[in-house]
Amino acid sequence: MSGPNSDYDPVEVTPLRAEQVEAMLDSALAAIEAADGLEELKRVRIEHTGDRSPLALANREIGALPPQARKDAGMRVGKARARVAQALGRRQQSLQAEHEARILVEEAVDVTLPWDREPVGARHPLSTIQERINDVFVAMGWEVAEGPEVEAEWLNFDALNLGPDHPARTMQDTFWLEPADGGLVLRTHTSPVQARTMLERTPPIYVICPGRVYRTDELDATHTPVFHQVEGLVVDKGISMAHLKGTLDHFAQAMFGEGITTRFRPDYFPFTEPSAEVDLVCFVCRGQSPALEHCRTCKGEGWIEWGGCGIVNPRVLVACGIDPDAYSGFAFGMGIERTLMFRNGIEDMRDIVEGDIRFTLPFGLEV
Ligand code: DAH
Repeated sequence: MSGPNSDYDPVEVTPLRAEQVEAMLDSALAAIEAADGLEELKRVRIEHTGDRSPLALANREIGALPPQARKDAGMRVGKARARVAQALGRRQQSLQAEHEARILVEEAVDVTLPWDREPVGARHPLSTIQERINDVFVAMGWEVAEGPEVEAEWLNFDALNLGPDHPARTMQDTFWLEPADGGLVLRTHTSPVQARTMLERTPPIYVICPGRVYRTDELDATHTPVFHQVEGLVVDKGISMAHLKGTLDHFAQAMFGEGITTRFRPDYFPFTEPSAEVDLVCFVCRGQSPALEHCRTCKGEGWIEWGGCGIVNPRVLVACGIDPDAYSGFAFGMGIERTLMFRNGIEDMRDIVEGDIRFTLPFGLEV
């Protein structure tokens, strides 16, 4: 049997003394005030209100007290705990507010900043101008024809009336493929596509053939060993120089704008007879240069050389299996880089070759 409760022993309940509780409260309030972040406050909360905190431990002692002392101590500890809880709540609120204010500043999104700074690259203006050229002709019902860049010597030269001893054969500085007698070249012009087309199709033929060509030129402001040409070929009944002229005038205006007409100057190409050099009215001075002081673009000529053209030489028709008595045709060929340079005022061929994004980007998707 257990004996009666021993007398109230103040030593055992030291934690419940008023000064002790006051000290616990002060230390808790000081720690709460000192907490300078939500994490820190969380730690302080556990330290001063958790199961093992001094006030919680003191609270546990209360039950062992005689009634009156229990009431006093209960009130003391209860009040202290309530004040701690209140202080924690206030501090929590103000730290939370500070935290949110800081986030608003630090993570602010400036919706006025440009959003399109991701470099996305650009299409090369040579590609877009080639597509535009194709469009001009496809709109007239022509077809686009292609041929290989490694070409048979016979198609690049012989079929086009450039026989082995023809002086014009040496005019085109050719890359020959090994073995030297293998009969293969890197095509020096797009004209072999004419021959291929005539061999593969039957008239009427209306084709446009853009493509890459090669010559052993050094790269400089006006030359590049790899460049592009566009070839046009028509073979039909009764085709004349007038059709050629009308077609090139339309082509010139579609590329350079209204009023830009062409003129022919007599020239020589083995695959056409007669042959002509096509000039464009200078689109800067509009042919007014002789009257004006000086036009830098046409150098005072009023005209700019654009390419070559002519009536398909009957010998070429025969070589490609077409009866020259039944059909006639016209052909033309021009450099695409040159066309692009005129059209967009590009002064140095190397800008086109290098493909620097700072050059290509301003062209956008359309030239
Ligand atoms: N193939 C010629 C060259 O590269 C350009 C040319 C001239 C093409 C006259 C033609 C033409 O179709 O008729 O210099």
